[in-house]
Amino acid sequence: MSHQASGSITEIDPRLIPQRKLSSGASMPAIGLGTFGSDHVTPAQVAAAVRGAAAAGYRHFDCASVYGNEPEVGAALESVVASGVKREELFITSKLWNDKHGEDDVIASCRKSLADLRLSYLDLYLVHWPFPNFHPPGCDVSSRSADAKPYLHESYMKTWRQMERLVDMGLVRHIGTSNMTIPKLTLLLRDACIKPAVNEMELHPHFQQPELFRFVVDNGIAPVGYCPIGSPGRPDRDRTPEDTAPTEDPVVVEIARRHGIHPAVVCLKWAVQRGQTPIPFSVNNYRSNLAGILAPHLSDAEMQQIAAVDRNCRLIKGQVFLWKEGQSWEALWDVSGEITPP
Ligand SMILES: NC(=O)c1ccc[n+]([C@@H]2O[C@H](COP(=O)([O-])OP(=O)(O)OC[C@H]3O[C@@H](n4cnc5c(N)ncnc54)[C@H](OP(=O)(O)O)[C@@H]3O)[C@@H](O)[C@H]2O)c1
Repeated sequence: MSHQASGSITEIDPRLIPQRKLSSGASMPAIGLGTFGSDHVTPAQVAAAVRGAAAAGYRHFDCASVYGNEPEVGAALESVVASGVKREELFITSKLWNDKHGEDDVIASCRKSLADLRLSYLDLYLVHWPFPNFHPPGCDVSSRSADAKPYLHESYMKTWRQMERLVDMGLVRHIGTSNMTIPKLTLLLRDACIKPAVNEMELHPHFQQPELFRFVVDNGIAPVGYCPIGSPGRPDRDRTPEDTAPTEDPVVVEIARRHGIHPAVVCLKWAVQRGQTPIPFSVNNYRSNLAGILAPHLSDAEMQQIAAVDRNCRLIKGQVFLWKEGQSWEALWDVSGEITPP
């Protein structure tokens, strides 16, 4: 299948990709390419995947300054636009890293990502984590910042005001959150002038987060799902013995066998049909992933079977953000239903 869109040759017509309507009325393609190389896929390999994925038909790319590859991804995006894809057909996300929450740092950080990505605006800029704690990229799971801080709503709102300024300045079309919880989002929705358009959160068949999912949808926030395949290539620091793999789940494996597709593609089809926007990372399988979500749908019965395999198995636990001795990672996720006190 090959298609001519705005002068560029693409393998799959991007107009066939389902779109999510954001609260602004803008559209976001319902699948994007993740760009976190998990410390072992090089920036050059990720950049090659961005070029290849755009040629395959992807128009949505999930970037972040902390992934350490925005300059290379930016060169790839520039070549995509030079090949004839219009900038306005692309949906590009970047994220503010945790050591840049300071009022003077937000706009400068966004400008740096824009320069690295060779863009004049971002479609979406996220606060990557709600904790203003520095830890070096690639550090061990036991690493703690000497001045680690809990979530302090007043501080988060100072950061958010700067995010809102980015929209006013025209540098960013939408702003959003990531790794948030219902109690934190409740306060943000109360106090924000510009509400988050998107919440990026871990979502896969073994971690479906039904309550948070429902909460964001009910509040007009589009859920974007990271680790949609269960992040089989994630760094060792993000692995614990309790973790399970959705691609090895017997129900997912059986549905994959029935459709003649990889279990990873079942995870993506489930995600798109459920209503979230998966952002699978891939340097080898991005074509089949895109083709897979356009292939015949999972049946209602299959969707229900997958809904029943949820194991509440969070893979990205965020241990490095803990701020007190003896805490366990659950403290980061407000599991009691209230923001964990400082
Ligand atoms: N906001 C946040 O805090 C946050 C946190 C984590 C991740 N993210 C974002 O979410 C993206 C995705 O998460 P992730 O990269 O951790 O995990 P993921 O997308 O669940 O898994 C990626 C892995 O799956 C493999 N894969 C992809 N398609 C496959 C297929 N069809 N068959 C077999 N294997 C397949 C990839 O290998 P190949 O390369 O060989 O295809 C890669 O090793 C990241 O890249 C990043 O952009 C955001």
